[in-house]
Amino acid sequence: MPVKEQLIAEGLRQKMCGIFGCVLSEGNAAPLIHSSLKRLEYRGYDSVGIAVLNNGKISIKKDQGKIDEVHKIHNLDDLPGNIGIGHTRWATHGAPLKINSHPHTDCSGEIVVVHNGIIENFLDLKSELQNLGHIFSSKTDTEIMPHLIEEALKQNPQLNIQQAVQQSLKRIEGSYAFAIISTREPDKIICARNESPLVLGINHKGVFCASDIPAFLEVTNKAVMINNGELVILTNQDYEIKKISDGSTITREPISIEWTAEMAVKQGHPHFMIKEIHEQPETLRNTLRMQDHYLDLLTTFLDRANEVFLVACGTSYHACLAASYMFSKLAFLPTYPVYASEFLEQHGKSVNIDSTILAVSQSGETADTLAAVNCAQQRAATVLGLTNVIGSSLTRISRVYIGTQSGPEIGVAATKTFTSQLSVLAQLALKLAKKRGKISQDEMDTLEEKLGQIPEVVNSIVTSQEQKIQQLAKKYANSKVFFFLGRGISTATAFEGRLKLMEIAYIPSISFPAGESKHGPISLIENGFPVVFVCPKDDTHKTVIGNIMEMKARGAHIIAVIEEGDQDIKSLSDDYIEVPKGIPSVLTPIPYAIPLQLLAYYTALEKGFNPDMPRNLAKSVTVK
Ligand code: G6P
Repeated sequence: MPVKEQLIAEGLRQKMCGIFGCVLSEGNAAPLIHSSLKRLEYRGYDSVGIAVLNNGKISIKKDQGKIDEVHKIHNLDDLPGNIGIGHTRWATHGAPLKINSHPHTDCSGEIVVVHNGIIENFLDLKSELQNLGHIFSSKTDTEIMPHLIEEALKQNPQLNIQQAVQQSLKRIEGSYAFAIISTREPDKIICARNESPLVLGINHKGVFCASDIPAFLEVTNKAVMINNGELVILTNQDYEIKKISDGSTITREPISIEWTAEMAVKQGHPHFMIKEIHEQPETLRNTLRMQDHYLDLLTTFLDRANEVFLVACGTSYHACLAASYMFSKLAFLPTYPVYASEFLEQHGKSVNIDSTILAVSQSGETADTLAAVNCAQQRAATVLGLTNVIGSSLTRISRVYIGTQSGPEIGVAATKTFTSQLSVLAQLALKLAKKRGKISQDEMDTLEEKLGQIPEVVNSIVTSQEQKIQQLAKKYANSKVFFFLGRGISTATAFEGRLKLMEIAYIPSISFPAGESKHGPISLIENGFPVVFVCPKDDTHKTVIGNIMEMKARGAHIIAVIEEGDQDIKSLSDDYIEVPKGIPSVLTPIPYAIPLQLLAYYTALEKGFNPDMPRNLAKSVTVK
C-alpha cells in the first residue's frame, strides 16, 4: 500500500497533539508538565504521557484517556526530577491505546521523544531501522525518531545529542514539533519544528517549550517563537536556536505576551465556550482598537489586487463568506471566498502575481489554510493574514497580517474569534470603501458609529436573551434535524449557526441561502421540523418573509432571529429571539451570530454533551 494510503488507513493523517517540556532550575517538573498539558488539552485528549529525568535516569508515566482520568490512576505529579517532557494526543480512528501514547523511546530507553505532526516517510524509515535490528513497540510514526537518533549515535559515537537529532531530522519528511530528552546529556531538552507549532517560554525559574502559549502563561509571559527548520537546545535558564540545515546559531529575543493567565482559564463559567461567548463585548472592543496603520496597509494591498481570494476553514470560512458581502456592498470589490482545502484544486494553477490571498485563521496553524497560502506565495501572489495568534505560521508567511486580539480561545467551537474576525473584516471593508470613494463621509461616519456600538449591542443580547434561548434549547433539544436559513449576508450567519449546533450538540443540521431552499431542501419539511431563520430588517426582509411562509405552510416550526419589535416576522414565528434595532446590514453577522452560539451551547448541555470537547474535533487542525 502506498505510504499515504496506509497513513489514512491508520488514522494518522488526522492526528493532533499538544507537547510541553521544561528545564527547571529547581523543583520537580512533573506537576508543571501536568498542569501545562491540561491547558493544551484542547489540542487532544485521548491519551497523555510524561517523561522526567532524575539522576541520569528517565521515568515515564503514560496511558490512554483524558488527563484527569490518567492522573487519577497514575498520579502524574509523582515523578521526581527537574527536566521533563509531556504530551496530550488526539486521534479519530480506532481506540487510542496506551502503547501508542507518547512519549516513545529507543531500544535502550535512553532517548525519549514527544511529537506533534506526521512523519510521512515513516514506513520506509521503520523498515530500514527494523532491518538494522531496532525493535518497535507502537504503531506510531513518532517512534522512528528515538530509533533514528539511537542509530545515528551508534554509527557515530562522537556525535552529541543535538547533532544526532539534527542528523535524524534531515531524514524525516513531514510535519513535526518534537521535544526530546536523553540520559546521555541529562541537563537539556532538544526540540525542533517543521510546520507543527512550537514556542518557548522563559523566566528565572526555567525554560519551557510548548505547542501553544497558554501552556506556560501561568508561569511566564516571555515567549520566543520558533520557526520551521529550527532546532532548540533548552538548558537551565537558557536556550540556543539553531538552523537544522547547517547548525548555524540564530539569535532571537523573547517577546512579551499580553495575555494574562486568568484569560486562559474559565473565570467561573462552567465551560470555556460560554465564558468565551460572554467575553465578546470585551473582545470586540479590543478589535476596534486595531491600529489604523495595519488596516491601511492591508487596504492598500486589497485595493490594487486584480482578484482577491478569501481563504479559510470552518468558522473562519463563514467570516470570509460574510466579508465577501461587506467588500462588495461597501467597497465594490468582488472577492472569492474559498474553502482552503479546495484552493489548490480550484485556483492553484491560475493564482498569480496579480492575485491577493487574504487568509483568515483563528489559530494561524490550520494545515489546509497554510497549504493554500504556500501555493499562492510560490506563484508570487500577495499573501495577507488575519489571525488570533501572533507568531503563528500564518503571521510568518504573510506579507502583512493583522491580529484579531481576541485573547486565547480554548473552546473547540470558535465563538469570540469569529465575531472578532468579522469586526476586523468590516473595518477593512470600510477603509477600502473610503479609499475608493465608494461611500460618502456621512455614510462612513454612521457605519463607524454603529460599529463602535456593536460591543454594547452584543452585551445586551447576551444579557436579555440568554435565559430565553436556554428555554428554546430545552424545547428543541430532541429534534432530529434543524434547518438554518438566511438571505444575503445572513446566509453566512445561518451557515455558522448550523455549524455550531452540529459540531457541539451533534444534531444533523442543514443550511442553504433561503432562496435555494426551494430547490430541494424544502422536500424534507414536515410537521414540527425546526427551521431557524436569520432575518435582520435589511433589503432581504420582504423576500425572507416569503421564504418563512413557504416553510410554515408545510408545517415547519419557525424560530426566527429578528430585529427587536419586528411584528411581521413575530406573527409568523413559533419562537423568536430579538436583537437590538438599527444595525446596518453589513454588520448584522456579528450580533445575529450570538443567539445561535447560545442556542448551540445550551442544546449541547440539554443533551448532556461537553461543548468544550466535541467528539472527533480539535481546536487547531494542523494536518491536511
Ligand atoms: C477547526 C476548529 C474550528 C475552526 C477551524 C478553522 O475545525 O474546530 O473551530 O473554525 O478549525 O480553524 P482556524 O484556526 O484556521 O480558524
